[in-house]
Amino acid sequence: MSAAREIRARRSCHAVPGSNPRFLEKAQGLESDQVFLDLEDSVAPIAKPAARANIVEVLNTGEWGTRVKTVRVNDWTTQWTYKDVIEVVEGAGANLDCLMLPKVQTADQVKALDVLLTQIETAMGYEVGKIGIEAQIENALGLINVDDIATASPRIETIIFGPADFMASINMKSLVVGEQPPGYDVGDAYHYILMRLLMAARAHDLQVIDGPYLQIKDLDGYRRVAGRSAALGFDGKWTLHPSQIEVANDVYSPDQGDYDHAENILDAYEYYTSEKGGAKGAVMLGDEMIDEASRKMALVISGKGRAAGM
Ligand code: GLV
Ligand code: MG
Repeated sequence: MSAAREIRARRSCHAVPGSNPRFLEKAQGLESDQVFLDLEDSVAPIAKPAARANIVEVLNTGEWGTRVKTVRVNDWTTQWTYKDVIEVVEGAGANLDCLMLPKVQTADQVKALDVLLTQIETAMGYEVGKIGIEAQIENALGLINVDDIATASPRIETIIFGPADFMASINMKSLVVGEQPPGYDVGDAYHYILMRLLMAARAHDLQVIDGPYLQIKDLDGYRRVAGRSAALGFDGKWTLHPSQIEVANDVYSPDQGDYDHAENILDAYEYYTSEKGGAKGAVMLGDEMIDEASRKMALVISGKGRAAGM
């Protein structure tokens, strides 16, 4: 994310339909790093006005602790976006961290949201620029434009993969979100998409989040699919059911051993490169030679571990 934006843990990003008061209540007691209250595809068109009101109410009165609080609005091709943004931000902007914009296809769509947010923040007397934007990439055009989208506004904090809409948009022959399409047996059908999103995010200092896994009873499947994006470097994944949260928090945290080792590397490197330690460049830590590149790798693991409270 841009230097000015705070880094927030997002190992588990829990989705809650804005139309379901029971789930909105229950989500407050869950251990997810982020909660996103949805106005888009999990809310029926006729339920959207009531969902906006529910969301404003729970943001203002709920016990959300330190987790990231996001609302997913409808995408700009619908009739609902402007009202989603105005009602939610005017009503609860002081208790909101980010808006998630789904089905982003062009940088202009992010810029339009930025302008609207700036107007509302100014009119309401909120700090201008406080509310971040999470851009969900869910189709081929969005993926092709992802670099422009990533740099469209200093508000952007994350790039998010939307596998279900993406599979539909490219005519993938499968109905099981996140799993390999039957007939494709030469690798991971999502590898290019995940890598493309990861490169865009890392090139522009943003977080990158994997999307939902819909087989909510299959925790092994969730762990397997999450493990792939975590191995590449993704920061977290959506959770649709409370049982997925613990798995996400585990999969996207570093191993305790790796975390401890990273902290040792940082301590040793800091000491040996200082005057007191001999101002060395490459140094030995046990049997391992460490240098500036090792420090950078250790910083990644340590940063994720510290964000996860290790
Ligand atoms: C999520 O919005 C998805 O389309 O996978
Ligand atoms: Mg979607």
